[in-house]
Amino acid sequence: MKTSYSLSLVIAVCVALRLLCSCSADHRSYSCGAGIAVFYPETFDSVGLLPSLALVAEPARVGNLPRRWQIKPRFSVEEGVNVIAIPVGKETDLYGTGEVVGPLRRNGATIATWNLDNYVYALNKGKNLYQSHPWILGVRPDGSSFGILVDSPWRLEITLSDTARITTEGPAPRVLVIERDDPASVVKALGDLTGKMEMPPLWALGFQQSRWSYFPDARVKEIAGEFRKRNIPCDVIWMDIDYMDGFRVFTFDPARFPDPAGLNAYLRERDFKAVYMIDPGIKKDTLYDVYRQGTAGDHWVKDKEGREFNGPVWPGPCAFPDFTRPETREWWRGLYEKFLAAGVDGVWNDMNEPAVFRVESHTMPEDNLHRGGGGLPPGPHARYHNLYGMLMVQSTREALLRYRPDKRPFVLSRANFLGGQRYAATWSGDNASTWEHLRLSIPMTLTLGLSGQPFNGADIGGFGGSARADLLAHWMAVGVYYPFARNHSVQNSADQEPWAFGEKVEQVSRRAVNRRYLLLPYLYTLFREASVTGLPVVRPLFFADARDTSLRREEQAFLLGQDLMVTPRWAKNPRRPGGAWETFRLEEDDDDGYQPLLAIRPGAIIPVNKVIQSTADYAADSITLLVNPASDGSATGFLYDDDGDGFAYKNGDYALHRFSVSRREDATLQLDVERVEGEREARRQYRIGLVSGGAIIYSGWSDAATRQFPLPH
Ligand code: GLC
Repeated sequence: MKTSYSLSLVIAVCVALRLLCSCSADHRSYSCGAGIAVFYPETFDSVGLLPSLALVAEPARVGNLPRRWQIKPRFSVEEGVNVIAIPVGKETDLYGTGEVVGPLRRNGATIATWNLDNYVYALNKGKNLYQSHPWILGVRPDGSSFGILVDSPWRLEITLSDTARITTEGPAPRVLVIERDDPASVVKALGDLTGKMEMPPLWALGFQQSRWSYFPDARVKEIAGEFRKRNIPCDVIWMDIDYMDGFRVFTFDPARFPDPAGLNAYLRERDFKAVYMIDPGIKKDTLYDVYRQGTAGDHWVKDKEGREFNGPVWPGPCAFPDFTRPETREWWRGLYEKFLAAGVDGVWNDMNEPAVFRVESHTMPEDNLHRGGGGLPPGPHARYHNLYGMLMVQSTREALLRYRPDKRPFVLSRANFLGGQRYAATWSGDNASTWEHLRLSIPMTLTLGLSGQPFNGADIGGFGGSARADLLAHWMAVGVYYPFARNHSVQNSADQEPWAFGEKVEQVSRRAVNRRYLLLPYLYTLFREASVTGLPVVRPLFFADARDTSLRREEQAFLLGQDLMVTPRWAKNPRRPGGAWETFRLEEDDDDGYQPLLAIRPGAIIPVNKVIQSTADYAADSITLLVNPASDGSATGFLYDDDGDGFAYKNGDYALHRFSVSRREDATLQLDVERVEGEREARRQYRIGLVSGGAIIYSGWSDAATRQFPLPH
């Protein structure tokens, strides 16, 4: 009796325990949307990890984990370090992991998420650079794809192999997994989770010229004048740190830039915009108003003893705003009021990893203190390091919106975090003027796009060191297809403006930049698509056919949107997707051996404009539709159109047009133009440019919505 009693007790306890275990397992992993699941470790430190600044909303439970769910993280602790092991399959190709050095296909790579001022990518073999994206995209042989988002701002190490392994000295994070039928759909789902880039002003898509630094103001005017004189289209001139008074941000050097409002007006009259740099390090100088305000408002990051932390950057010892504090972000926004009033069009936030000189870590101590507030808990720098730049650009963007409510903000940031596309565009930091870095720029821009950031590009011509003539020519030729196209170079390097190496490079550059402006209707439509769907602007070739595994490693040729393939002249044995892609020239004389080969997808229509010198002249009233009919004679394409700035588009003042071309029996091509979204009216004429056998055959112009064009022979 006694035995059977204790036996049933044991059984009862076992059953209860099992029930408890399965319940808690259930509790720790669940579906939070169609094809999206979240997995929590057994111990989840919500104070150390929440709120997530990567996600736009907390993942809500919508159901149990589907039975056949494939990708399941396993959490463990090894020697005090949190480990996540995620079997991803032997045959899977892996991508993503953000801004790092390395090939597009990332199998076998190890990366770290730790924002780092990494000049010419020399530290840690470039396995961590200025931004962090704890995100993996997996593409299986059949094209079905998944995404893994490790929701932690702490330093992680991610090794990509059959079983992805993530380690962190921070708390064990939750992991979100997305399952979709193809890679593009996974990237879109990433956009739904982490937010999308807002529509930038049209001018930000123009070509941009920078160097460290153009000064004094007369030199800036001279550069602007050269572009116009030489008929090389350009939209923006950049002001690097030497415009400041002794590297004090929010000031202008009284000798070099005595009249910034005058300079900016001069540029504006010539259809240029002006972007100015603002760094986070505030010079420790009791006579400097910004430092005094920051001290009075108690805005600085503290050291572990609770004293103001100081570290050297450009101006010498600096204090650093604690952007985790709402009061500090509010103060920071306010600093822009007077600054923007000088006619500054856009803001370049640099050094915001944050970079600190003369220390091995290149940043502030991990035990520095951030005070948080407004939902963000206080925490050590280790917790907020990767978010520092993101919080900075969030408040910069908010400042632009506040003081220029009628303009779309343009902010460029060096540091950022997964989801940071919501606040700023980016460039890939201090690359080098080498062939290796020209080649590398393509997998880097593709990878950033696959990691949620469509608006990015590398310094054209390379930053560190001096470019040579041929390198600059090739870099200009390819760089105009980066979503963000800016030529920039380090101080004391050889000049690398398009004309700096004489006529030949100048002519190559002019043709290259012309091509960007010709493609502007298409490019702007792609930016609109990115802002709505989260799809990248430049895409890897395997996006053309996710089942063609031979495209998975191609990182020389790439796609601009869905319809245009760009193959650099230096590409060795580039792959090509199947189908009758047609190679064509945008201008009669543009085959100089430098311009990449452009090919249009079968069944596609690409809208192009005429050459203009700046987006200020963009009218989009006469659009040529490049058409490569599919074998059945049909093709489709889109054109997005709005004011190019401001927010009227949010209230319907925009138009998305769909073009359909079909072949008719009477040997004509019929073009139908239909406005499928928006209310914007425009008078516009179209012509067809039939791409065939390497040439373009043009029809006459017509402004009718439906029109037959004689089929050109
Ligand atoms: C950093 C930036 C670079 C800039 C320089 C001076 O190195 O990455 O683009 O020119 O600082 O401000």
